[in-house]
Amino acid sequence: MDRLIIEGGMPLCGELRVQGAKNAVLPILAAAAAAGGECVIHNCPRLRDVEKTVMILEQLGCDVKREGGTIVVNSKELTDCRIDEGLMREMRSSIIFLGAILTACSRAEVGMPGGCPIGLRPIDLHIASLKKMGVSICEEHGYIKCSCARLRGCPIHLDFPSVGATENIMLAAVKADGVTTITNAAREPEICDLALFLNAMGARVKGAGSSVITIEGVESLHGAEHTIMPDRIVAQTYLISAMITGGRIRVCGAEAVHMRAGLSALSEMGAVITEDSGGIELKSRGSVKSVHIIRTMPYPGFPTDIQSPFMALAAVADGTSVFVENIFENRYRHVDELVRMGADIKVEGRSAVVRGVKGLLGANVEAYELRGGAALVVAALAAEGRSTVSGTEYIDRGYEDIEGCLARCGASIRRVCG
Ligand code: EPZ
Repeated sequence: MDRLIIEGGMPLCGELRVQGAKNAVLPILAAAAAAGGECVIHNCPRLRDVEKTVMILEQLGCDVKREGGTIVVNSKELTDCRIDEGLMREMRSSIIFLGAILTACSRAEVGMPGGCPIGLRPIDLHIASLKKMGVSICEEHGYIKCSCARLRGCPIHLDFPSVGATENIMLAAVKADGVTTITNAAREPEICDLALFLNAMGARVKGAGSSVITIEGVESLHGAEHTIMPDRIVAQTYLISAMITGGRIRVCGAEAVHMRAGLSALSEMGAVITEDSGGIELKSRGSVKSVHIIRTMPYPGFPTDIQSPFMALAAVADGTSVFVENIFENRYRHVDELVRMGADIKVEGRSAVVRGVKGLLGANVEAYELRGGAALVVAALAAEGRSTVSGTEYIDRGYEDIEGCLARCGASIRRVCG
């Protein structure tokens, strides 16, 4: 098991180019399985989850090759419609292969999905929606078995604007009979990126980014070329790293329009933020103010994925900050590890009260999930002395070369393997 060794206290200064978005590339690679031709996808980050998704595509019979940041997927010959539970357990997002495989093969058999321990991660909205589209589904022996002679377009209302359920419905609707209208759809920017790719494949998706998405089924799809959007969560994580260390960083390629909630919170905490067409620059004023309250919400509300890095920043702020995690029921696993570094945090149900302390102290801490692990790295960058962050296999699911990126901006950070 790798771990990161970090000597805290170095202000982060410099320039980084943000990686392609994990939560866009995963559904887009799944969509490529339904193209029935060759798809060329640029700006694909080197992440564990991307590697696992490529293994799923190959298990389905796609021919996949990576050329630098570009992944070429040829789905002309799907030879299988089954994903074994070992691969499905590796990550939550594998469930969106259901919609893509059903579009390509009219039947699908996938293991129950796994994911980070941030909550139950139910898939009831996915299952109910696919059943509405005419899919017969049975769940037995840990597998979800689906069959459908012809997917049927229909109106679908989501009780919660689930990102994954919205994506699964879009993937199942692109060649369905008739029109599918999703109301209370998720509005995340990654949904828009998926819609762009699907339309490049010949689909007819309208309204992505709004809460009403309409998909008109087409007869056939074809290969397409696409460049993945920038990762708004990774970009904000690096901006927070500069803020907590009293530095100055420019994140090239970041889209400020995708990060209004996070940038607003950073400004409230005292950051000087400059946006231009090439990216975003953050300059610290040397101290961090507390943030009144952060409530995680579906987009365009405050993103749950950046809650924990913000909590690391709030841990050293002047004053008290309150967090309310409304999306996942178990997304405070990083709190005990931050407390081990000297943070003063009290969790009550979905709320966490963070009383800022003068400074954190380096410690040996453990990542239990992706974004909580990133929060521990952020905290260690500012802590006095040495920290060891283990559980890097979680962090590597979402951050490409995190130690290289931070070291290029002056951090004292190195990976110890094994
Ligand atoms: C996506 O997960 C992201 N993952 C998550 O990012 C992100 O935190 C989440 O959306 C919310 O923005 C990918 O895109 C690969 P949801 P997803 O379905 O699709 C409940 C990261 O760190 N729900 O919007 O699983 C669910 O329990 C990851 O990059 C149901 O009840 O999220 C949760 O409370 C973590 N039934 C809420 O909806 C369902 O059928 C949000 O889930 C589906 C979801």
